Amino acid sequence: MKILGVLGSPRIGGNSDILLDRALGGAKEAGAEVEKIVLCRKKISGCLDCTKCNEAGVCAIKDDMQDLYPKILEADAIIHSVPVYFWAMTAQMKAYLDRWCAFFDGEWKWHKHYYPKIKGKKIGLITVCGDSNVHTADPIVHSFKTTVDFTRLRWIGAVMASAAAKGEVAKDEKAKRAAYELGKKAAQK
Ligand SMILES: Cc1cc2nc3c(=O)[nH]c(=O)nc-3n(C[C@H](O)[C@H](O)[C@H](O)COP(=O)(O)O)c2cc1C
Repeated sequence: MKILGVLGSPRIGGNSDILLDRALGGAKEAGAEVEKIVLCRKKISGCLDCTKCNEAGVCAIKDDMQDLYPKILEADAIIHSVPVYFWAMTAQMKAYLDRWCAFFDGEWKWHKHYYPKIKGKKIGLITVCGDSNVHTADPIVHSFKTTVDFTRLRWIGAVMASAAAKGEVAKDEKAKRAAYELGKKAAQK
């Protein structure tokens, strides 16, 4: 069982990072092999809608996303962790998500050679917002959950936390436990 953690915050050691580490800790505890991707350390451009991927499912943009495509395909579950920036996900996470476009044909169906690998893949999400109302992150949850439903992946849930200063979420036992449980869930069959 392989679990990929994708960090969408540029603040290393910040709140999303802390909760993602918790989730990966839960997955590891449940026996999974885990890997963390820090998007801000990668050069990932946005999708250009060049449609070149429609035929063979290969993205024409030669940047660090090329290394991530096989990792996404090979993972049994992917947990994304991202803070709210201006009532939305960060630019790093959005660029990464838009580049999933390469997996689909011109009708937004999985390319046939990818579907056996992607079928049943579990997707989880962690959000952090500075606002005391965790539902400030609802647009991010909507974006991921709708993508998962539309592409027939398996949604394993979202952990939504509130924290502003760097590392503040470390005091939030409830959020840390929920993230840990999300990781354990990701590692289950
Ligand atoms: C550019 C920027 C925009 C932000 N926009 C929002 C926002 O719209 N709503 C909100 O609740 N918090 C907002 N925040 C606060 C972050 O979501 C909050 O500090 C969070 O804890 C950061 O998580 P991190 O430590 O994982 O980076 C913003 C922070 C930054 C730097």
